[in-house]
Amino acid sequence: MNYANRLSNVSVLGAAGKMGSGILLLMSQELYDLSKQPENNELNFSLNAIDISTEALQGILKYIEKQSRKAAERKPENIRKYFSESNLTEEEMTEQYVKGVLGIIHPSTDLMDATKSTLVFEAASEDKDLKIKLLSEINKNSNLFPWFFTNTSSIPIHFIDEQAGLNGRVLGFHFYNPPAVQRLVELITTENTDALLVETAHQVAKRLRKVIVPSNDVAGFIGNGHFMRDALFAISEVERLTSDLGFVKSLYAVNSVSQKFLIRPMGIFQLCDYVGNDVVQFILKVMNPYIEKEDLHSDLLDRFVDAGIKGGQNPDGSQKNGFLKYESGRITGVYDFEKGEYVDLDSIKSEVNEFLGPLPENYKPWKEIIRDQEKENLLTTIFSALKNLNTPGAQLAIKYALQSKEIGLNLVKDKVANSAEDVNKVLLTGFYHAYGPVNEYFD
Ligand SMILES: NC(=O)c1ccc[n+]([C@@H]2O[C@H](COP(=O)([O-])OP(=O)(O)OC[C@H]3O[C@@H](n4cnc5c(N)ncnc54)[C@H](O)[C@@H]3O)[C@@H](O)[C@H]2O)c1
Repeated sequence: MNYANRLSNVSVLGAAGKMGSGILLLMSQELYDLSKQPENNELNFSLNAIDISTEALQGILKYIEKQSRKAAERKPENIRKYFSESNLTEEEMTEQYVKGVLGIIHPSTDLMDATKSTLVFEAASEDKDLKIKLLSEINKNSNLFPWFFTNTSSIPIHFIDEQAGLNGRVLGFHFYNPPAVQRLVELITTENTDALLVETAHQVAKRLRKVIVPSNDVAGFIGNGHFMRDALFAISEVERLTSDLGFVKSLYAVNSVSQKFLIRPMGIFQLCDYVGNDVVQFILKVMNPYIEKEDLHSDLLDRFVDAGIKGGQNPDGSQKNGFLKYESGRITGVYDFEKGEYVDLDSIKSEVNEFLGPLPENYKPWKEIIRDQEKENLLTTIFSALKNLNTPGAQLAIKYALQSKEIGLNLVKDKVANSAEDVNKVLLTGFYHAYGPVNEYFD
């Protein structure tokens, strides 16, 4: 079966979710493109968008419509090739294109529709029993020996393979959020994974213009393997600082150090809020039983989630309050657990900044560094200056950076990543860091 045949009937499970809707968008455009190639004239391309609520699926169709129109309007040259033999106007081409993309999608709440597919993208909720049930039911009821690309963030692929009885017809195709924008895909295979699946996974990634980083089949893989430990370290630093500074100022201090001093796009607690504290807690829970030598768990995180302080996004994409409070995307407060309310950032900011001390000389924020041709030299200069500062902020930043490096090196040592370069690539492309954690800036 060639690539186009394999992709002529695709299903996305969890299509109304955050990740599923993005995967659906990418695959609808890919299937549309394949359908327009003359050699595929005989094929009837179909994309099943499967989820549990019809209403949510209708909403997703609107999302696909809006995004496809936007993509066509932004880059009309990308769709012109489909209409080269017609004399349609640009607006007419856009409408035809959007109609064509939507025409490929079949929204459905019936899992059995996936039994017609030869390739299934699984992006249902992160629940191992649910994923195993969905995949094994499709597998049992299909006579097409379907291939499964799961988007699980933490469940080992060999476990899914064994439990769902897939005989190596599954791999981890771990998109980052949002799938249509983020370039990174972590590709997780097992000893059992059929080589043809791996070849096709590379082909899909290449056609979607994604960067593949291979990760070995260890719970959490590379991205969450680093992120979860980074977050747990940050929490332990907050707990350490609390006796001197109090909880609220400590939390803000560690967030500031991890963003400003380390020149990252977001502070660690802002990142947890972005992902959702309940999601972070959930990933830790899934990973923990598989990682024998560590306890990947935080009581503090549990307390926040239990109190409903979860972060995540509102339906309009705006940030919900979590560890931190947000107004128009800006941090304006920090949650005080004792008071059960947010403390105004302005009331603590100067004291925290005074405690941390100044940023190093020639400092540049992440936004500027990331675009600078001289990025490496600038980082060397800034972090050398940081090492000479000897302030609490600089000390914490160095400790944090060295811990992040240690996490990266351990991912290689524990055979999660094949190399330090792969760890760095995941943090650079999936988390938009300006530099990888395995570096020599802080030694
Ligand atoms: N959100 C992220 O940042 C992110 C990043 C990478 C990977 N992932 C992974 O992607 C997967 C989906 O995560 P998400 O954030 O999109 O979650 P989500 O909650 O937004 O979406 C999950 C979807 O699965 C659907 N679902 C639940 N039960 C179902 C069933 N029986 N049949 C069909 N659909 C069902 C839900 O209705 C929902 O629409 C998870 O495995 C997650 O770990 C998430």
